[in-house]
Amino acid sequence: MTGNLSPIDKAKYIAAKRALEHVEGGMRLGLGTGSTAAWMVRLLGDMVRDEGLRITGVPTSARTAELAEQVGVPIATLEEVRWLDLTIDGADEVDRDLNLIKGGGGALLQEKIVATASDQMIVITDVSKTVEGLGAFPLPVEVVRFGWQTTKGLIEETLESLDVMGRATSLRLNRDRPFVTDEGHYILDLHLHRIGNPRQLSLVLNQIPGVVENGLFLDICDVLVIGHGDGMVEVRDINNGTVAREQFILAESENLFTNIAE
Ligand code: A5P
Repeated sequence: MTGNLSPIDKAKYIAAKRALEHVEGGMRLGLGTGSTAAWMVRLLGDMVRDEGLRITGVPTSARTAELAEQVGVPIATLEEVRWLDLTIDGADEVDRDLNLIKGGGGALLQEKIVATASDQMIVITDVSKTVEGLGAFPLPVEVVRFGWQTTKGLIEETLESLDVMGRATSLRLNRDRPFVTDEGHYILDLHLHRIGNPRQLSLVLNQIPGVVENGLFLDICDVLVIGHGDGMVEVRDINNGTVAREQFILAESENLFTNIAE
């Protein structure tokens, strides 16, 4: 399973595998969206099938729901489950305080609702997502379709007085048409380059009529698991203030994937 993976996919796989050590039988689990979260869902499917693990997953997007069903992970909606024990998801950027930019895959709204409705959030990434300060990755902002150009204008006007380095905004496209989220909204990407005050920016953006939610996840992530292509995995726990490094042996088959340095 791991034999033909690129270093970046190995890193994502390791991060997903390590995060799943936090999963226990009976848990209600938020299932993130994106290529890293997809590894987690596939591995969870293995655990359900091979180890008889009993969990209920709440997917954060239609495509995660589809994958979960394919690999045999039992799913429910947040309406049914209401509250979750743990959410595991990827991210587009993570800073030292485990604040995130998410929404590169367009699922930020459901991801934020699900992560906020969880006792704990674990973020899984490869090392390329870690940054000193947020903002190099364009900040996704989900907006209602009605009057979206006006909302875009208001966002640009608001950015004038904020501590950011760039102020260009763009409507996210899917080929030549606007990208539409699972909730039927559009996404504006804000090319800010540097976000001086993420907390202020998040509050101000969410006050603009037409803005549904933004991709800043502040004080939501508890644990960050960073995978490396050579098998090293780093686990940062913001609540305990601990950083642990472990080495996985990468082998041709998933079964030989052994953690040797807990
Ligand atoms: C989805 O909307 C995003 O928030 C993803 O979690 C994020 O883009 C990470 O995706 P990858 O794991 O594919 O990099």
